[in-house]
Amino acid sequence: MKRILVTGGAGFVGSHLCKKLLEYGNEVICLDNMFTGNKENIKNFLDFKNFEFIRHDVTEPILIEVDEIYNLACPASPIHYQNNPVKTMKTSVLGSINMLDIAKKTKSRILQASTSEIYGDPLEHPQKESYWGNVNTIGFRSCYDEGKRSAETLFFDYHRQHQVNIVIARIFNTYGPRMSFDDGRVVSNFIIQALRSTDITIYGDGMQTRSFCYVNDLVSGLIKLMESKLTGPINLGNPIEFTILELAKIILELTNSKSRIIFKKLPKDDPKIRKPDITKARREISFEPKIELHEGLKLTIEDFKNRL
Ligand SMILES: NC(=O)c1ccc[n+]([C@@H]2O[C@H](COP(=O)([O-])OP(=O)(O)OC[C@H]3O[C@@H](n4cnc5c(N)ncnc54)[C@H](O)[C@@H]3O)[C@@H](O)[C@H]2O)c1
Repeated sequence: MKRILVTGGAGFVGSHLCKKLLEYGNEVICLDNMFTGNKENIKNFLDFKNFEFIRHDVTEPILIEVDEIYNLACPASPIHYQNNPVKTMKTSVLGSINMLDIAKKTKSRILQASTSEIYGDPLEHPQKESYWGNVNTIGFRSCYDEGKRSAETLFFDYHRQHQVNIVIARIFNTYGPRMSFDDGRVVSNFIIQALRSTDITIYGDGMQTRSFCYVNDLVSGLIKLMESKLTGPINLGNPIEFTILELAKIILELTNSKSRIIFKKLPKDDPKIRKPDITKARREISFEPKIELHEGLKLTIEDFKNRL
C-alpha cells in the first residue's frame, strides 16, 4: 500500500483519480482549497479509513509524508481561471514549488497535470511533445497557459538541480461524469443546454476541432505514467477529432433535445485545432483510450440528468 497525495482531489479529474487509487488499495490524501472542487465529488470516500481530506491551498507551504504526489490543483476552465488570473498563476507556480519541495524532502515521485494549452494556438497538427507551442504571453488565457508552462520548467529544474523524481502529463480535453455544470467547457455547456432545451451556443462557425478523452481513460494513463520511470512530458488524450458542430449534433441526438444551435463570436485566443499525437504514450506506457465519444457522452449525460 502506498500513501498518495492528490492535490485538486475534490475536482473533476482528481475525484476520479482518488477513486481509482483507493480501489487499488492505496492510502489517499486529497488536498484541495475547494475553489472549483466539490464535497459531493468525494462524499462517497469520506468514511473510508484509507481516505483523508485536507482543506489547504497549494500556494501555502505544507509538509506531508507521502510516497507519490499527483499535482492536479488548478482551476481548469476559462471561466474559473480567468476569475482571478493572478491567483491562477500563483497556483501553478507557487503550488508547484510547494509540492516539489514535499517531493524533494520525502523523496516521493511527483506527477504534474500539465495541459495541451501549453501548445497555445498550435501551428503544428497534431501536437507532438517536441512542439514548443504558439502562446500569447499577455492574453486572457495566459495566466493558465503560461502558469502551466512555468510549472513544467520548475519540474524539470527540480529534477536536474535536486534529482526530484518527476513526470509531466500533458492532458488534452477530458470529459465525463462529475464535470461541473457552470464551468463553460464545451461538453458540459452543450449537455446542460440540451437537457434544459435552451439554445446550444457555438462560438465561431463550429468547424474548429477538438478531441475528447473520457475521464476513466485519462485516469488510467495518469496511473500508468506514475508507475513508469519516465519524466515526460507525455501527451494523454484521445486522438479522434470532432468538430464542435459534430459534438453539438451528437449531444442533441443522445438527449433527444429540441434545442436550436446558434452561433456566436469566437473569443480571442481560442485555439482552432487541437489533437494529441499519443505515439509516445502508446509506445512507452501502452496507453490506449478505450471509450469512444458516443459511449462516454451517454454516461456523462446520465450523470448530468441525475444531478440536475
Ligand atoms: N479536464 C480537462 O480537460 C483538463 C485538460 C488539461 C489539463 N487539466 C488539468 O487537470 C487538473 C484537474 O482539472 P479538472 O478538470 O479536474 O479541474 P477542476 O477545476 O474540476 O479541479 C481542480 C481542483 O483544484 C482545486 N484547486 C484549485 N486551486 C487550488 C489551490 N490553490 N489549492 C488547492 N486546490 C486548488 C479546485 O478546488 C479543484 O478541486 C488541472 O490541473 C487542469 O489544469 C484538465
